[in-house]
Amino acid sequence: MKVMSKPRVGIVMGSDSDLPVMQGAAQALEELGISFELTICSAHRTPERVLEYGTSARQRGLEIIIAGAAMAAHLPGMMAAATSLPVIGVPLALGTLSGVDALHSIVQMPTGVPVATVGIGNARNAGLLAVAIIASHDAEVAARLEEFRARQNAGVYAKARRLEALGYRAYLDARKEESK
Ligand code: RP5
Repeated sequence: MKVMSKPRVGIVMGSDSDLPVMQGAAQALEELGISFELTICSAHRTPERVLEYGTSARQRGLEIIIAGAAMAAHLPGMMAAATSLPVIGVPLALGTLSGVDALHSIVQMPTGVPVATVGIGNARNAGLLAVAIIASHDAEVAARLEEFRARQNAGVYAKARRLEALGYRAYLDARKEESK
């Protein structure tokens, strides 16, 4: 398990094949300066590990768990059943149903044990939502999140000014050049 100092967020995923997408959550937390731990535990292959992780999470100091899984995606719901911490589920696209199966499995939790759910593959939003939850009781993190939002806002204005100045053809050409 990759552990930073005093992790506040736990990121778990069903398989290492989820990591290329789930890294988006880790990157968002890094950008906002939130410590996290990241590991693999599978609802169907290592159910005992999921329960152990969930039942010990609060005591270990975690505040939120982000859980990503594909296909029938039992991990987020099972993790939520094992802890009273908020769990954010990330449905991942894999196989013939392209993530719609995972989305339905995660978002359609029966009443009593909710799982907050982001869009298919949107691990970055899971990270940002975790930051917003922490910001609800941590003023320093709230200030960082507001700065992040302000930068994001300024970025859109900068793009709008550039598009208006260049016109769409030159703008697209410039984007193509910049992405090389
Ligand atoms: C799910 O099964 C995991 O979340 C993963 O996305 C999927 C397939 O896992 P691998 O067979 O690639 O290990 O539990």
